[in-house]
Formats: sequence, C-alpha cells, structure tokens
Amino acid sequence: MNQIRLLPDHLIDQIAAGEVIERPASALKELVENALDAGATQVIITLTDGGLTGINVTDNGCGMNADELGLAVKRHATSKLSDADLFQINSFGFRGEALPSIGAVSDLEISSCNETMEHGWKIRIAHGDIYPPEPVAHAVGTTVSVNHLFDKIPARRKFLKTQRTEAGQCLEVVKQLAMASPHVSFKYSESGKTLLNLPSRTNDASAIRDRLSDVMGHVFAKEAILLDAQKEANGLTGLIGLPTMNRPTTQYMNLFVNQRPVKDKQIIGAVRAAYSDTLPRGRYPIVVLFISVPLESVDVNVHPAKNEVRFSDSGAIRSLIVGAIHSALREHGFQSTAEGAQNALYRLSSNSTHRNLSRSGGFSNYQANVTEQENALQLQSPNADYLPSDDIFQGSPPLAKTQNYDVDTQAQQTLIQNPLGAARAQYHKNYIISETSTGIVIIDQHAAHERLVMEKMKSDLALNDIKTQLLLLPEIVSLIPEQLEAFKQQFDSLNKLGLIVESFGEDAVIVRETPALLGEVNAQELVKDIAEELVNLSGSTSLEDKISHVLATISCHGSVRSGRVLSVAEMNHLLRDMEKTPNSGQCNHGRPTYISLSLADIEHLFGRR
Ligand SMILES: Nc1ncnc2c1ncn2[C@@H]1O[C@H](COP(=O)(O)OP(=O)(O)OP(=O)(O)O)[C@@H](O)[C@H]1O
Ligand SMILES: [Mg+2]
Repeated sequence: MNQIRLLPDHLIDQIAAGEVIERPASALKELVENALDAGATQVIITLTDGGLTGINVTDNGCGMNADELGLAVKRHATSKLSDADLFQINSFGFRGEALPSIGAVSDLEISSCNETMEHGWKIRIAHGDIYPPEPVAHAVGTTVSVNHLFDKIPARRKFLKTQRTEAGQCLEVVKQLAMASPHVSFKYSESGKTLLNLPSRTNDASAIRDRLSDVMGHVFAKEAILLDAQKEANGLTGLIGLPTMNRPTTQYMNLFVNQRPVKDKQIIGAVRAAYSDTLPRGRYPIVVLFISVPLESVDVNVHPAKNEVRFSDSGAIRSLIVGAIHSALREHGFQSTAEGAQNALYRLSSNSTHRNLSRSGGFSNYQANVTEQENALQLQSPNADYLPSDDIFQGSPPLAKTQNYDVDTQAQQTLIQNPLGAARAQYHKNYIISETSTGIVIIDQHAAHERLVMEKMKSDLALNDIKTQLLLLPEIVSLIPEQLEAFKQQFDSLNKLGLIVESFGEDAVIVRETPALLGEVNAQELVKDIAEELVNLSGSTSLEDKISHVLATISCHGSVRSGRVLSVAEMNHLLRDMEKTPNSGQCNHGRPTYISLSLADIEHLFGRR
C-alpha cells in the first residue's frame, strides 16, 4: 500500500471547489449571496460569455479591510458562523469556503473598502496562488471578479453546456435571489446587454408583489394568489399561480426557506398535492413560496451547494403548504388565467394579418365570415325564458326560441353584472359566448361542465353521499390481466365513488351501479378508461392521488359532451354554477374552462387602439 499523506492545500481547495463550484452559475450564486450577507442594497452584475470569461459582482455592502481580504480567500475562514452553532444560521454563507474554492479554479480578484478606510485594497488569488494585497481606489463595498473559470481544469470545462445555457442559468440564479430580497436593487448585464434592472422595492405592503412583478412579469404577479399563512412557529407567504397557468417542469416553482432558494422534492410534492386535481399529470404550477421557520428547526448544512435543507418536523411544513395552498385555490376557484386570452388574441391577430397578406380575395372572405356569424347568432338568443331550476346535469334540454337581440330586459342587465356575465349565444354546440360589464367571455361548456361534475362528486364524496343508480342490466367488462389487477385493488375506493363493481369470472368485472350524477353512461367505456388510468398511476402515487385522477376520469364521462345544444337558461345556469364552484377556472386536465376578452382587447384586435 502507498504511504498515507496529507493532501497539499491547493488540491484540497480544488476538491472542495468540485462540490461547490460546478459551473458559472454556482460561482455567481456564491458571490451574490456574499453581497447580500454583507448588507448590500445595490448589486451590479456583469457577465462576459455566459460567465465563462468573466463574472463581475459589485456591491455597496460593509466591505473588508486588507486583513479581512487575506482571510476571506483562506479555507474555513468566515465572519458568519457565531459560536460554532450550526443551528443558528441566518446568513446565506457559513462554510467559509466559497471564495477559496473559486480562487482554486479561476483567476479571482477582490477589491474592497469599508467605511473607516481611506482607500480600498485588492487581493488576487489565481488558480490557488494567493498574491499579497495592494491598495486600490474603491467606494465602500466590494467588487469581485472571476476570470477564466475552469481554464486550467479542462475536465470541468468539458461538462459545461453551451454558453447560452450557462448564461441562462446565471440569470436564473440572480432572479431567484432577487425575489427574496425586494429591498435590494439589482442590475444585471451580459456581454453588454442589460437583462435585469430591478429597482429597490421598499413599500412594505407591496414589496414582494412589486418585485415578483419585475422579475416574473406582471401577468403572473397580478393574477397570482397572495398567500399568508402561519401555523405555530412556521410561516408561509408568497404568490401562487392559477392552475391554468401551468408548465411542463418544476423550473417555475421558486421555493425559499428563510429566504434561501432551495430545491426540495418534499416541498415540490406538497405543492403538487395541494394543486392535486386542478393540474393534469406531468404539469407543474408557477409558484413563489417563502417558508419561514425558526433557525433551530432547519438544517441548512446538507449539501455544500447549500440548496437543500432538512426540517426537524417536515410533516408540519407539508401540512402548512398543502392546507394554505389548497384553501387559497378554493377561494379563488373560478378564476382562469388571462394567459389564455392573451394567447387567443395573439393567434387571432396573427391569423387576420396572415389572411390579409396571403389572400387577395379579402372581400369574399369577409362576406363568408359575416354569413357564418349570422348563422351563429341565430342559433341561440338571450331572451328565452329563464327556467328557474333547470338542471344542467340531467335531461335533454329544449331548444331556445330565436328572438330579437335588441330587447334588453332587466334580468339581463342584472346577469351581465355577474363575473361570467349573461349568456348570449352558443357556437359550434360547445362554445358559449357571454357578455359581461367589461367585455365578453368564451366558455368551453364541455370543459366547464366536466369540472362542475367533478367538484360536485368531490363534495359528495367528502360527505359520503355519492348517489348511485342501478343498471337495469349489469354490464360485464373484460379487462386485460394488468388492468384487472389494478382495478381489483381499488374496488373499495370505486364503491365509495359510486361505481359498484365486482369480479366476474377470470378476466372480467361486472358493473351493477354507476354514480347517479353521471346520468346515462356507457359503463363499458367508463370502466375501461378507469382501468387504464389505474395502470398508468400504479407505482408511486398515493391513494389520494389515484382517487382524484379516477374522479376526473369519471367526471369526463358524465359531462355535457361538446355537441349538445343548450338553452340560454341552461347556459346561464352553467355560468352561475361555475361562479360558485371551487376550481372551476380549469377543467380536470388543467386547461382553462373560459377565456375573457375585455373591450379593450377587442378594440385592439380591430385596430381601434
Ligand atoms: N461581498 C462581500 N462583502 C463583504 N465581505 C465579504 C464579501 N464576500 C465575502 N466576504 C467575507 O469573506 C468571508 C468568506 O467568504 P466566503 O464566501 O468564502 O465564505 P462564507 O460566505 O463565510 O461561507 P460560504 O462558503 O458558505 O459562502 C465571508 O465570511 C465574509 O466575511
Ligand atoms: Mg459565501
């Protein structure tokens, strides 16, 4: 065996750097965190070539004197960990290894000055070699420049992605830190282009929303729901996006624990559970969550990159998140994102441009459109009698009588004041157009109704009051072995949902009763769809999750499928039901159930604005 010996310092630093400084974005994160720890109110970041050639961070924090500079670049030197207590950490840094690690894998220069000094000092550490401090002109604060990162470590450089990807990650890191520190102004430029210019937001009441609006865009900040919950010593604040504004990855789930950005599977799981059936499988919400917990009940020393934490009572955190988000979503139930309307507008306007440019027969097109519109208008009128309690869930509706549009009854004026307005017409047997006091709303009746059925089933289920209807002839459904097995395991749950099934022979089940809410239903298709769903869900998902997915599948079968003509009374009934039903802004697959267009939007479409 070889002789055991202590590693030389520069190798130890490189090893440490391997864990902490993986890519330009990780170096940048350490530098911005240091600036925030130093109490800066202004942080200026300049990047060259996605951070590969240069990363420059200037702050107006407390600064360092020459001695402190010398220590700052040494391993295990920190000003942040008081009395060696790892469970009282209220700063981003505490390991005392970020700067020496960066210095081990780049050419690092730090210039700094504090309030009491006449001039600043600068120190350089290039690929592990420390040079003595030199005087320099610098305002109070610190500038750190990281040049030629990984130039001498080709193995590391090989693992980096394209310059664009690395640049994108750098920007993401700064955005995240900026979200949690609204009072600090941030300026960020990359290869000469300013990409972020965030003013300091100091208005206590709106600082977070203002900052998030600056970082994430005003559509999100305006529509997102404000959270403010407290359970014992733990708090939860932030903004959560409406379910209809969902994304295919967890990238837009911004999670913070005591202001530290974290990536935490448990928190993501809790958020996902809170949104549960309002999102389709594989889609994630946009959220910004600030979790605050007593310092002693969280361990931040889990990973050198400091983006993971461990809670002493993770159950309490989960229940705080699930409870707060769930009830916030219910309260704002019927809202749907304006993103849908914006996309629609975009498509409409690009379509009309396309038409004008690409076809010469503009006038005949116009004519054709008019005829289409006239036909549509004739389909339904708003003045059919309002039937008092026309049940949308069942029965076949009468066709509305066609009447004159000019009559403006009192009842309609009242209806228009409702959030989803007064139903005016139905197009293509699925889209309801309603008029509101500020514009129009287009409703996808199938999607909306599906959601109403699901929410009704959920509330009935909670009260253990799902009514069933007996099938005159029980239905025998054969299933493939895998489906049969998955189905059998859920007999009890399915019974509770109003689907009374038993095994039948070797390879089939027999359906005796179905949920009454569904009305006439094709039991064959229903059972096959559920079986397929259960197979897809097998494995990790919880029973709760399975039930909600099965509920979604069941509801889909009971919905007013597109293609059913509704009377005006029925349409209005549907709108009123939507307004009072939680989560009705999106269908069970997370698509919006309606889109609203303001008059301003419409005028915009016609070039009036
Ligand atoms: N921008 C800055 N302004 C003032 N002091 C700074 C700045 N950056 C670093 N320092 C000082 O240098 C020390 C070392 O910084 P370094 O980032 O290496 O370690 P740390 O922040 O203490 O811990 P960690 O390794 O977890 O980041 C800090 O404790 C702090 O005292
Ligand atoms: Mg640090």
